[in-house]
Amino acid sequence: NNSDLNIYKDYHREAAELYHHILVNTQLGEEALDYLHGRGLTDDLIEEFQLGYAPAKKLLLPFFDEHQPDYQKLRKSGLFVELKDGQLSDRFRERVMFPICNAAGQVIAFSGRLLHKNETQPKYLNSPETELFNKRDILFNFDKAKNAVRNEKSIILFEGFMDVLAAYRSGVKNGVASMGTSLTEQQVYSLARVSKKLSICYDGDQPGQDATKRALELLGSLNRFELSVISLPEKLDPDEYVGKYGEEKFYERVHSNLESELAFYLRYYEQGRNLDNEHDQLAYIDDVLKKLAQSNDPIERDLYLNRLAQRFNLDKAMLETQLTDLRSALQ
Ligand code: GTP
Ligand code: MN
Ligand code: MN
Ligand code: MN
Ligand code: MN
Repeated sequence: NNSDLNIYKDYHREAAELYHHILVNTQLGEEALDYLHGRGLTDDLIEEFQLGYAPAKKLLLPFFDEHQPDYQKLRKSGLFVELKDGQLSDRFRERVMFPICNAAGQVIAFSGRLLHKNETQPKYLNSPETELFNKRDILFNFDKAKNAVRNEKSIILFEGFMDVLAAYRSGVKNGVASMGTSLTEQQVYSLARVSKKLSICYDGDQPGQDATKRALELLGSLNRFELSVISLPEKLDPDEYVGKYGEEKFYERVHSNLESELAFYLRYYEQGRNLDNEHDQLAYIDDVLKKLAQSNDPIERDLYLNRLAQRFNLDKAMLETQLTDLRSALQ
């Protein structure tokens, strides 16, 4: 019920304030603060996103203990793990804390990044699903991004929290990221409510490219978006790109290097193929024609058909016949 939800929100707000305080004002947070500065985050940005640090020692329980908490509710809040003897213990330890907010900007969960990577623990740890937090519904930074859409007229999907932050400090404030899972239908509906234009800027590595294709398919099925892709060179992720080439270059890229869906697929289908080899060539042409057949823009179809004909020295009329056949098969 509603008053329970408000109590959970209070817990999260207080936890976020405490983690943030530890990071910016105490010696316990010094190393984490250096780490974030080293990754290019300014104090202003740390403030704006209320980033925090969960230290190795017990933090939340002693703090809540002073305020006569309802232990049943603390148990269900997601902020703790339950030990064998039933005692509660801080879930997040030695992690840089990213508060996760709902569309109204209220903290409803956390994701914590290990300060020191190790083999036994996941790099990012999310809050468990709770009455407040359903990770299939939530996008990191959606609350801020939906306001930025008014200026930018578009929204951008990233893979990671650090990518959203790197974009943000480059002046690209309309970025969101899912919770380390692939994009869900619920998230797509939230996005559709705030923006017609949507760009995907996933990591430049193969998993990022594969995820881009899946996201395009899901987003395309709704038929509500103007979609584009922002691709990055050298397998970089957006955060690495900003680190290597700078904030201005990233801003420029986002505003002038939009690739159409088809242009993305053309690049995608070429990967891992040797187009001097006849077998690969045929498979490539087949993939491209199938994708072209789905396009409802006659000019776009004609443009790419011309390119295909020229590139592989094929008869355009023959390609056109094939495309017509493929399109009628789709009806
Ligand atoms: P950095 O190393 O901090 O730059 O992270 P990244 O964002 O580049 O990480 P990566 O590209 O590996 O993953 C993208 C996103 O997937 C992250 O922002 C997380 O949301 C999520 N993710 C990564 N590793 C884990 C993990 O071990 N567990 C979970 N649940 N999510 C993860
Ligand atoms: Mn502060
Ligand atoms: Mn990745
Ligand atoms: Mn990454
Ligand atoms: Mn990264």
